[in-house]
Amino acid sequence: MLGRGLVVHWDDCQVLEEKIINYKGRLLEAQKRLESGNEDFTGWVKLPLEYDKGELKKIQETANRIRSQCDAFVVVGIGGSYLGARAAIEMLGKTGQSLTGTSGPAVYFAGQNISGTYHAELIEEIRDKELSICVISKSGTTTEPSIAFALLKDLLIKKYGKEEANRRIYAITDLGKGILREETEREGYESFVVPDDIGGRYSVLTAVGLLPIAVAGIDVEAMLNGAEHEAKKAGPFAPVWNGPVEDDAARLAAVRNELFLSGKVIEVYEYYEPKLQYFTEWLKQLFGESEGKEGKGIFPAALQFSTDLHSMGQFLQEGNQIFFETVLNLKRPEKDLVVPESAGSFLAGKSMNAVNQAAVDGVMAAHRASGIPMIKIDIPALTPYEFGRMVYFFERTCALSGYLAEVDPFNQPGVESYKAEMRKALEK
Ligand code: PA5
Repeated sequence: MLGRGLVVHWDDCQVLEEKIINYKGRLLEAQKRLESGNEDFTGWVKLPLEYDKGELKKIQETANRIRSQCDAFVVVGIGGSYLGARAAIEMLGKTGQSLTGTSGPAVYFAGQNISGTYHAELIEEIRDKELSICVISKSGTTTEPSIAFALLKDLLIKKYGKEEANRRIYAITDLGKGILREETEREGYESFVVPDDIGGRYSVLTAVGLLPIAVAGIDVEAMLNGAEHEAKKAGPFAPVWNGPVEDDAARLAAVRNELFLSGKVIEVYEYYEPKLQYFTEWLKQLFGESEGKEGKGIFPAALQFSTDLHSMGQFLQEGNQIFFETVLNLKRPEKDLVVPESAGSFLAGKSMNAVNQAAVDGVMAAHRASGIPMIKIDIPALTPYEFGRMVYFFERTCALSGYLAEVDPFNQPGVESYKAEMRKALEK
């Protein structure tokens, strides 16, 4: 079923319409750069329109095989090779059992930290289950997933012997380079490729995200359809030079840039549905790595409400006003409960979702009174289709924002430098 996509409310953004209109020329240029196909790492722009249907089928078939092969599936990866899949599975799977999707094996994540405790407890938890693992690394050399993969591979070999272990290992990495690709070819792991022209944080709609998400029983084709819809909607947005910028991703890029120039250097993503937690982790990587360079960039932060109102609410209301808020407002939550009589007359008989929505409205009213700039984004429902639309919408907003800020939104020299320094420290 098609959904209507995100609806952005600008009333509280505190950027004048004429300021936004001034961005039209630069936005048009930025959009042309994205569509030109001449810029490095812009393969994600046309991906939803041109993806390889044969590869999608292979991903789905492989996911089905994994689902019948194991009851614990461990996804090994970090950063762009981790957050997209986790965001989708947490958003579209079951709350409170965050490591399961809608059906099929329990999905675990490893290699997103270097904690001996985390990995020891993970191994303890899964060792007696039927196991498969998927190692994801574009470079094939990142320290965290390398350690976790080595540990889990050992476990598989001890449990099943080498031949069967190799049938339970799936790899997603570069087509031709890196030690993971060499090992994959040598050992005959079933594998997929991280496209050359798509960076980690823009890769969730490639095999990097799609295979683990499909193993969790989530409809990845619907996800791609959602992204396709959003891609078709994108640009051109400047046919009328003195009219408003109709394209919301472009408009958001302009508004963010104006807010940054007015001293709002932090963007706080706020959400009232815990299933969105990892989506905001994905947003943090997307915007943080894309914009944070050359001494520039809006620092992305995320708060879960109403939980964090009881810890960070004070700062937002009365603290240093160097931030603006992007409110992710879920319109149609999947389930609801009625508050029982015993909660008192003020709450009794109300739907929990209505109370949550009252929190959204109340917080926005209080923050409006404090003069905080806010952008409210309504999410119609948490479905695979809407997930695809959201991913594409924010990827495009981020890329356009990067071009407006005159940085390269597709490189991450800072991440590379930490990796290099850590390797040196380990060699000592
Ligand atoms: O965006 C990035 O480049 C990083 O966050 C990477 O995705 C992360 O470091 C993992 O890299 P790799 O996939 O090469 O293991």
